[in-house]
Amino acid sequence: MRLLVTGGAGFIGANFVQQTVATRPDVSVTVLDALTYAGNRASLDSVADKIDFVHGDIADLDLVDNLVSGVDAVVHFAAESHNDNSLAEPWPFVQTNIVGTYSLLQAVRRHEVRYHHVSTDEVYGDLTEEDPAFTENTAYNPSSPYSATKAGSDLLVRAWTRSFGVKATLSNCSNNYGPFQHVEKFIPRQITNLIDGVRPRLYGAGHQIRDWIHVDDHNRAVFDILERGRIGQTYLIGAQGELDNLTVVRLILEAFGRPADDFDHVTDRPGHDQRYAIDASLLREELGWEPQYADFRAGLANTIAWYRDNEDWWRPKKAETELAYATAGEKTL
Ligand code: NAD
Ligand code: DAU
Repeated sequence: MRLLVTGGAGFIGANFVQQTVATRPDVSVTVLDALTYAGNRASLDSVADKIDFVHGDIADLDLVDNLVSGVDAVVHFAAESHNDNSLAEPWPFVQTNIVGTYSLLQAVRRHEVRYHHVSTDEVYGDLTEEDPAFTENTAYNPSSPYSATKAGSDLLVRAWTRSFGVKATLSNCSNNYGPFQHVEKFIPRQITNLIDGVRPRLYGAGHQIRDWIHVDDHNRAVFDILERGRIGQTYLIGAQGELDNLTVVRLILEAFGRPADDFDHVTDRPGHDQRYAIDASLLREELGWEPQYADFRAGLANTIAWYRDNEDWWRPKKAETELAYATAGEKTL
């Protein structure tokens, strides 16, 4: 199979490409990535001689058409992915997440190429602690410019499938953690703060709940859906990893041998979603997928070890990321 992977220099995409190269010698991979602030060519160093890399924008219709004409399937990870950035400047989210997805859909439609769309549980909005977990039938109710543009892109995929017969599947996953995640995100931000001797930064009281999944478990599910998923079907991906943010900060502090209260409460995120939770029954029962990282503490310990061992990878992004948070007005409460 010849596979085009968009966003393959980002967190989840790079892990997907590494996993595919390691486990699937029958698959040839071309990565299309614009190398935005979130993309890092170094994330693909270990597989550089085994893949083709194209530096370009998914919204470039001619480039995308040309690349799609030469593959059997597209897995679409590329996106603007950070909620806080979407609150500061929404336009790149509209451009990449909606216009970029349109560009890919037109190309897979023209060339009749199989398409898998990687999306997020945030399209469903948030839950109270009493609500049942999201299912494939939960109504869309996004809260932020990020989640609204991801929801818009999902709806384009559904429309292109129904109206034009595009052979698409979709997946909506919960919060990922693991190696190669940008230091703007919650877990790597706190790990790299602690490596630098800086206290973790918890938004508000930290009672929001996220449903954590290791990135390798997400990516195995994506491959299963690509190969065996039903055309037109959405699959939710999650590993029953619900934890509140305060607990996650305390687990990271514990792993660094620091006291449980050694962190700062900072300005909360406007419109902050309270809880995400995934019911992955369809994926488990229909495709037989099971997470391999059932123990969050163990996965977190591996992730901390990776950031300790790969300072060259994250260090160039750290100061500019913290400056952006400070410029956006983040203050200790
Ligand atoms: P990321 O921000 O780490 O990486 C995004 C990648 O896309 C980068 O390499 C960037 O350079 C590239 N990119 C951005 N705009 C582009 C454009 N116009 N053209 C080509 N490339 C472009 O994101 P991530 O966390 O790896 O997320 C990947 C996908 O998974 C996204 O679609 C996101 O919505 C989805 N998702 C993420 C999570 C999570 O927890 N991170 C959970 C569920 C779903
Ligand atoms: O649910 C899937 C989504 O998970 C993906 O679609 C997004 O691309 C991904 O970024 C992630 O979104 P979140 O907004 O949940 O992730 P983030 O890492 O930004 O924050 C996780 C939680 O931690 C959230 O409740 C906000 C909080 N937080 C975040 C940062 C950066 C803090 O308390 N302190 C911080 O410094």
